[in-house]
Amino acid sequence: MNVLGIETTCDETAAALVCPGEGGRGRILSNEILSQIAEHAAYGGVVPEIAARAHVEVLDRLILRALDGAGLRLADVDGIAVAAGPGLIGGVLIGLVTAKTLSLVARKPLIAVNHLEAHALTARLTDGIGFPYLLLLASGGHTQLVAVRGVGDYVRLGTTIDDAIGEAFDKVAKLLGLGYPGGPEVERMAETGDPERFALPRPMLGRRDANFSLSGLKTALRIEAEKLAPLSSVDVADLCAGFQAAVVDVIVDRLRVAMRDFATVAGHPTALVAAGGVAANGAIRRALTTQAGEAGLPFVAPPLALCGDNGAMIAWAGIERLRLGLVDDLTAPARARWPFAEPIAAA
Ligand code: KG4
Ligand code: ZN
Repeated sequence: MNVLGIETTCDETAAALVCPGEGGRGRILSNEILSQIAEHAAYGGVVPEIAARAHVEVLDRLILRALDGAGLRLADVDGIAVAAGPGLIGGVLIGLVTAKTLSLVARKPLIAVNHLEAHALTARLTDGIGFPYLLLLASGGHTQLVAVRGVGDYVRLGTTIDDAIGEAFDKVAKLLGLGYPGGPEVERMAETGDPERFALPRPMLGRRDANFSLSGLKTALRIEAEKLAPLSSVDVADLCAGFQAAVVDVIVDRLRVAMRDFATVAGHPTALVAAGGVAANGAIRRALTTQAGEAGLPFVAPPLALCGDNGAMIAWAGIERLRLGLVDDLTAPARARWPFAEPIAAA
């Protein structure tokens, strides 16, 4: 079973071919990705119109390259999976219309994948882990703690009530005059900084639910930065280190609550899993490794290249759904918003 995966929901155009591999894992036959970072950098964030235009300019060639790289023709493909949302609607439409066209012309099943579900299932592609597992999904647009009980069966244990973690990293970077995307820049600066110089808050610590709030932390950091302006590079490093340490503390605390709630909706997890662009952060990965170890769980995080947006995760989610007969038709809608997990109160 070879599945083509297409991803255009944000600022990466991606196409990949994946088939089932050994040990329940997936085998990535090709994984093409074109980042638009350079096109958006001047604006300090993703500009939806620029993103949509950039996708349309490269997507057809990228799909051809993915097929070539896998040594396959469209006729050899068993399904065409595409991220149908959530995301920037212009980009989503371009991916979806392309996938529908290929599906129609080549007479292949279409699988309209939820982008977040694809992040959530990546640990199965890379490590073949079984259900249920506890997932921290943290990207530029989303922060969720989820009990992954099966394909299409997700319970949201917590979410952010304001900024996503990646968004907070991006905003802090912008505030401190660092580049975009901010996560890797803040992490790099934090390496040489003193995390204890500034007393930054740990919002939501000790709360009974597993929700996040990050805007207060970002505001506290801005106030410190304004007091010190103009900032030296040591100031910037210390602010980054302080911010990252606060985020780590918040994640560890919120995860503790989520682990407890997990038991009530899903029993015993097979693993603690991280996904989304923020899962590339070394300090966060280290903290999660320790916490998983303390709970007697393996910690599974995708390799860096599969943390951020990519086509392989869409193809893999397509395989998971296709195996269960979950296919879509040409009426599948493009969705700017598309919650993938039901809230714990409803579970
Ligand atoms: O999943 P992703 O590639 O795109 C979506 O948002 O769907 O995640 C991108 C986000 C950005 O906010 C970026 O700043 C953040 O992930 N990120 C990081 C790191 N690398 C990427 N955040 C913290 N530390 C990093 N090393
Ligand atoms: Zn993403």
